[in-house]
Amino acid sequence: MSLDVHPLGSTGLVVTELCMGTSPLASMPRLYGYDVTDDRAIATIEAVLGSDIRFIDTSNGYGEHGEAENRIGRALAAHIGGREDLVLATKVDPDPLTGDFSGKRVLDSYRESLDRLGVDRVPLLYLHDPERIRFEEGVATGGPVEALVRLRDEGRVDHIGVAGGPVDLMDLYLGTGEFEVVLSHNRYTLLDRSAKELFRSARDRGIGVVNAAPYGGGMLAKGADVQAKYGYGERDDGIAEAARAMVAACARYDVPLAAAALQFSLRAPFVDSTVVGMSSPERVEQTVQYVAQEIPDDLWAELETLVPSSEHWLN
Ligand SMILES: NC(=O)c1ccc[n+]([C@@H]2O[C@H](COP(=O)([O-])OP(=O)(O)OC[C@H]3O[C@@H](n4cnc5c(N)ncnc54)[C@H](OP(=O)(O)O)[C@@H]3O)[C@@H](O)[C@H]2O)c1
Repeated sequence: MSLDVHPLGSTGLVVTELCMGTSPLASMPRLYGYDVTDDRAIATIEAVLGSDIRFIDTSNGYGEHGEAENRIGRALAAHIGGREDLVLATKVDPDPLTGDFSGKRVLDSYRESLDRLGVDRVPLLYLHDPERIRFEEGVATGGPVEALVRLRDEGRVDHIGVAGGPVDLMDLYLGTGEFEVVLSHNRYTLLDRSAKELFRSARDRGIGVVNAAPYGGGMLAKGADVQAKYGYGERDDGIAEAARAMVAACARYDVPLAAAALQFSLRAPFVDSTVVGMSSPERVEQTVQYVAQEIPDDLWAELETLVPSSEHWLN
């Protein structure tokens, strides 16, 4: 095994330090700038299933018609063996037509996901992007948190987590005491440190910490000239300028920027697993190689001098 494995907080689950992220392979050109065909997506998942990566992250809402889950389901059905230690996590999403995010919708979302994935249960189910509703609605009677807790109490899912953006809101959800795992994205990277305290305090409480989007959705892998968005949106110039300076610094040490961006997350003592979005089979091998890339201390020190100040962060 070329990847380290870590306990996921106090869940009892054991996960590889690298997790396969599946939003690019759902084909979402508005976020990533390109389409991904069925064949390419399925070949990518097959490459993951044949690799040392034993953790896959998806969501009911990736792709217009659940493409990510459908494609994972098709790849799993075709794959013989090697699934025993796979941790497959998905997320509950609002109704795509009405926006309903009630407890009833949570149950429907989970049923849909199981159907698409072709499994009876998943070990980890997240509340996805709860910033789409007010916190009071999230925790209300008949709301999504109550439904997730019921799914766990009834044994239909092993563990529940919360996955989303704004760190203060994520902290409020962790404060309910119900969530065993937190996933934050684009907020603990070479360019943005908004989630550092959230992660640290989650770790201190025995909550599993999953850091998604170490490349900020692509800028830190493809460069700011190819992916001008950071965290799926237009950002001020400070972010792209820092990314360009980081590319130049890495080039002087002959280190791919993506390798440094990935290892920045992997080496954080409070991160249990890092979720990387990939949509081609070659990426899987390349990403595993980046885990082992030698990165000199001097480069780490130089990259730290280039971090944009906190007013540029997503928070
Ligand atoms: N709220 C949430 O729950 C939430 C939010 C964000 C993310 N996530 C999860 O976290 C995962 C990671 O986030 P993300 O996919 O948005 O962003 P990311 O991992 O920061 O970046 C993904 C982008 O980087 C590119 N890339 C990956 N490896 C590369 C390499 N070696 N060289 C060049 N380009 C490379 C991918 O391109 P290719 O497609 O060409 O491989 C893709 O465009 C998601 O897929 C999703 O599973 C969850």
